[in-house]
Amino acid sequence: MRTPAKFPAYRPRRLRGSPRFRALVAETRLDPGKLVAPLFVDAKIRRKTAIASMPGVFRFSLEEIAGEAKALAGLGVGAALLFGIPPAKDSKGSGAFARDGIVQRAVGRIKKAAPGLVVMTDVCLCEYTSHGHCGVVKGAGVDNDATLALLAKIALSQARAGADLVAPSAMMDGQVAAIRKALDGAGFAQVPIMSYSAKYASALYGPFREAVESAPRFGDRRGYQMDPPNLKEALREVALDIQEGADLVMVKPAMGYLDVIQKVKEEFHWPTAAYQVSGEYALIKAAAQRGWVQEKRLVMESLTSIRRSGADLIITYYAKEIARWIKEKGVI
Ligand code: PBG
Ligand code: ZN
Repeated sequence: MRTPAKFPAYRPRRLRGSPRFRALVAETRLDPGKLVAPLFVDAKIRRKTAIASMPGVFRFSLEEIAGEAKALAGLGVGAALLFGIPPAKDSKGSGAFARDGIVQRAVGRIKKAAPGLVVMTDVCLCEYTSHGHCGVVKGAGVDNDATLALLAKIALSQARAGADLVAPSAMMDGQVAAIRKALDGAGFAQVPIMSYSAKYASALYGPFREAVESAPRFGDRRGYQMDPPNLKEALREVALDIQEGADLVMVKPAMGYLDVIQKVKEEFHWPTAAYQVSGEYALIKAAAQRGWVQEKRLVMESLTSIRRSGADLIITYYAKEIARWIKEKGVI
């Protein structure tokens, strides 16, 4: 601080006294255009199905998914991030790169119904593998280099289907480079990559795994996802991804990792996303349903904190509701 203010000449409360002053000097604002809504499309259902641990979030059928995307676009939500549940899972996760795979088909329908909405696709294997891991299983672990070719294949098939951006979440070393190369080689040099660069092995992913039935059948993901104590390692992960061609980098989860978001933004000045994950949604929802917290206020507070820490865009299961709240009432 160069000019330390002094009481009583300076009284910080002067600008807090009215909502109009508060709005004028607010340093951070939430804008639906900065939010990304995760969308689950399930090949096994005909009607939208609730997810028990995420009240208000649904798995949609292929027939319904475009309608939901259109609703998001109408509310001004910035983008949708698609996750698929295939008709059947196998050890290779072949549903992930099938030409007529569930995500590939959903992208086509969404782009037709809501051409203005940015459609992002998750690039990973865990929703498609029978063992639930994010890569090729060899022995007791996941084989990094054998997985790269499959991730590239998934990304390419999604780009061919019309995805606007691909988002690799497998936490394999070299995944961004492998995907960039495959996309460039096939005429998709303009398709950006948003990398889940610093994805921690978190206890907050449980509801998501329920939604897509992707809990690992054996072991856990600590062999490839990051260890929560580490911040400097996150910076190395981000540096690598940027070198490999990531257009956006991501920190995940958001809650508990705001320091990581802040450092990443400060250090690299790169477009930075934060993922408010399923468990964060579930925590807020559960307390709100019991009447223990005020849901709107807590949601806005949590997302404002994520933006304040430096995130440019936020992936959140609250995207649709927030957009609706803002539309109805203006800034909350
Ligand atoms: C898997 C993946 C996960 C999420 C997005 N992609 C979870 C995991 O690692 O099991 C989590 C999203 C959430 O919890 O909302 N590649
Ligand atoms: Zn995965």
